[in-house]
Amino acid sequence: MRLLVVGTGSMAKSQINHFKAIEGVEIVAAVDTDPIRLTEFADHFGIERRFLSLDAAIAWGEFDAASNVTPDRMHHATSLALIAAGKHVFCEKPLAENYADAMEMTHAAEAAGVVNMVNLTYRNVAPLQFAREMVLAGELGAIRHVEASYLQSWLVSRAWGDWRSETRWLWRLSTSHGSNGVLGDVGIHILDFAAYGAATDIDHVFARLKAFDKAPGGRIGPYMLDANDSFTMSVGFANGALGVVHASRWATGHLNELKLRIYGERGSLEITHRPTDSELRGCLGEDIETATWRNIEVPAVPTNYERFVEAVRTGKQLDPSFRHAADLQKVIDLAIVSEKERRELTLLPPVEIVTVPDLPVPELRNELQVTADLETRPIAGEC
Ligand SMILES: NC(=O)c1ccc[n+]([C@@H]2O[C@H](COP(=O)([O-])OP(=O)(O)OC[C@H]3O[C@@H](n4cnc5c(N)ncnc54)[C@H](O)[C@@H]3O)[C@@H](O)[C@H]2O)c1
Repeated sequence: MRLLVVGTGSMAKSQINHFKAIEGVEIVAAVDTDPIRLTEFADHFGIERRFLSLDAAIAWGEFDAASNVTPDRMHHATSLALIAAGKHVFCEKPLAENYADAMEMTHAAEAAGVVNMVNLTYRNVAPLQFAREMVLAGELGAIRHVEASYLQSWLVSRAWGDWRSETRWLWRLSTSHGSNGVLGDVGIHILDFAAYGAATDIDHVFARLKAFDKAPGGRIGPYMLDANDSFTMSVGFANGALGVVHASRWATGHLNELKLRIYGERGSLEITHRPTDSELRGCLGEDIETATWRNIEVPAVPTNYERFVEAVRTGKQLDPSFRHAADLQKVIDLAIVSEKERRELTLLPPVEIVTVPDLPVPELRNELQVTADLETRPIAGEC
């Protein structure tokens, strides 16, 4: 598979090592609108073909698939251009800035018949995959309660560089630069982690979002620091369970930690993922009586990168697809509305309420087309 890398920033550097390690993958060219980044990246990874615009790369055209590693705001236009050129697309998360854009990308990719996947990285966490299998096999019984958190601390620590001066952090803090804050950035990961692990979907959302004061006047250069950097959410799941999901960039002492706890009638699981390790613990069977938790060994799983390459090779779409990421985008959109309106919103489709008119002559009722007088009324919150 001939792969084009679009956007050569920090995530592209991480991605390329995964792709290069897969047999049959050749990185044939790179694109970046910033010539300095492009040169540094292409020199470092030995890529000869370089383009300063995606249009130029598409005009050249000698690639099968592209990895879109541009900032969030660019995903929509760049992915659509790649799809229009008939290329398979592996897009970074979040798929888009909003649900409407995400669905446009989904429809375009599905109509073109190209493989479309979104890099929800934590699908690569083996304990998550194993936990989902256990839930699906009924080992926990009915799921009643879920707790999920994604904790980062780059606003208080310099371990990942200085957000005050580095553009790769500054665009993440600014809505006018296309960021939905921590909600769009890693919220999408933890929403996927929670729903995928519990093997269900989110169908109700109540959220609180907050952007804290970080700089005089709330801005640094052209960056208004108005994107949320902490959120809490209570959610309802399609399987009837309740859940709490939260994430923060102010979680002092946690560089990058995801935790998911799934509580069922017959057992519970806890997944922890940190930069150094991940683990699965369970409290099951007789252990419920003593609240004893044990480590569970899990086998390795293929990464999203490997699965994308396999999907292109076989022509068979694999998860996580654009459509799935668009569904998650809808949760994010509703969370933003929920914060503004301070009320719970639903992802369920509107219910059609049928009002039959009062008719004077009963016999007439049967003869009339009731549908002619249908009144439909949506209930709450779909965007
Ligand atoms: N899956 C994950 O775990 C994960 C982790 C980190 C980042 N990301 C995602 O990866 C994407 C990139 O993040 P990053 O941290 O690498 O950002 P970054 O700012 O370091 O890099 C983005 C690069 O894209 C380039 N660019 C901008 N517009 C472009 C265009 N139209 N065409 C080509 N190049 C363009 C920029 O010049 C920059 O070099 C974001 O969407 C982010 O959310 C995902």
